[in-house]
Amino acid sequence: MSQIIPKIIGTGSYLPEKRLTNIDLAKMVDTSDEWIFTRTGIQERRIAAEGELTSDLATIAAKRAIEAADIDPATIDLIVLGTCSGDFTFPATATIVQDKLGISATKFPAFDVTAACSGFMFALSTADAYIRAGMASRVLVIGAETMSRIMDWTDRGTCILFGDGAGAIILEATQKEENCSGVISTHIHSEGSYLKLLQTSGGISAGPPEGDNRPGLGFLTMQGNEVFKQAVKALGQIVDETLEANNLKREQLDWLVPHQANIRIIKSTAKRLKMNLDRVVLTIEKHGNTSAASVPIALDTAVRDGRIQPGQLILLEAFGGGFTWGSALIRW
Ligand code: UT7
Repeated sequence: MSQIIPKIIGTGSYLPEKRLTNIDLAKMVDTSDEWIFTRTGIQERRIAAEGELTSDLATIAAKRAIEAADIDPATIDLIVLGTCSGDFTFPATATIVQDKLGISATKFPAFDVTAACSGFMFALSTADAYIRAGMASRVLVIGAETMSRIMDWTDRGTCILFGDGAGAIILEATQKEENCSGVISTHIHSEGSYLKLLQTSGGISAGPPEGDNRPGLGFLTMQGNEVFKQAVKALGQIVDETLEANNLKREQLDWLVPHQANIRIIKSTAKRLKMNLDRVVLTIEKHGNTSAASVPIALDTAVRDGRIQPGQLILLEAFGGGFTWGSALIRW
């Protein structure tokens, strides 16, 4: 029986102009360029300008993906956007992007998915299911964040890590054929017992953090070392799960496109896959952890610079608050 699968027909990304270097951060908190770079692999991150919203970043990344795919944006029939730093509590940032792209007239569904740093993997998995079920045929999948807005700029354990950015892909329904290009499988998991290790300190329902008079609904808090250990474990398991589900050996993979949270976490996943770092797409140095935007930014970078080539097998993966983690196997 013939089967429909999604194929990636265009990618795009965007980083805000303003750079915040490790040296800048060393003037704000008790840290150093050397500590940040050796412990995380990050050199600088981008910060959205005042008034520049997650939907603005997402819209630019989306326009670049639409241009790369060479499609009429009015033919898109679903937007799924992964974010944990959307413009407003509601409506979904995806609907704002739909409007900013000028394609709301056809009234197709647009919604957000929240899975912290795994947001893009969850959005991709959702879009994949819609296409396989015949419920959508051209989907804009986005990961976009303004993490700088939920940073506690006095906490050196977190503010050195995160940055702002957006990445997007266009998926198109295609007939599955042997070794054809497309999304082969997606795998997502959640384990909701780790709230305290990685969360925001306040929220709409929970209210502002106790004893914290700063404006807003709380800041990102993290027990970095514990999160690190869990991330290494979960990502190791999910790459094995993805290979096993597809009867693949690790040496058959061409590229690993990982979530860019910490170079040491990425190296540990690469080691498990016995992959040299020259087969791993690394962009962390230039933008730090952009949460849900990190995987599509890295993917777009390697597609545009020509590293990713037709026919190659690509493994995407991410880990984030919840905990949540996910992967996707793609033939380019
Ligand atoms: O994307 C979502 C998932 N998030 C992640 O994957 C992040 C996971 N965690 C990490 O990347 C790392 O745990 C961090 C980069 C956050 C921290 O690195 P670490 O090697 O785990 O350091 P640590 O927390 O064990 O701290 C080691 C030392 C401590 O000092 P003492 O107690 O040994 O004297 C910290 O106080 O480093 C100190 N430290 C710093 N020193 C300079 C912590 N942050 C800094 C800093 N600058 N920014």
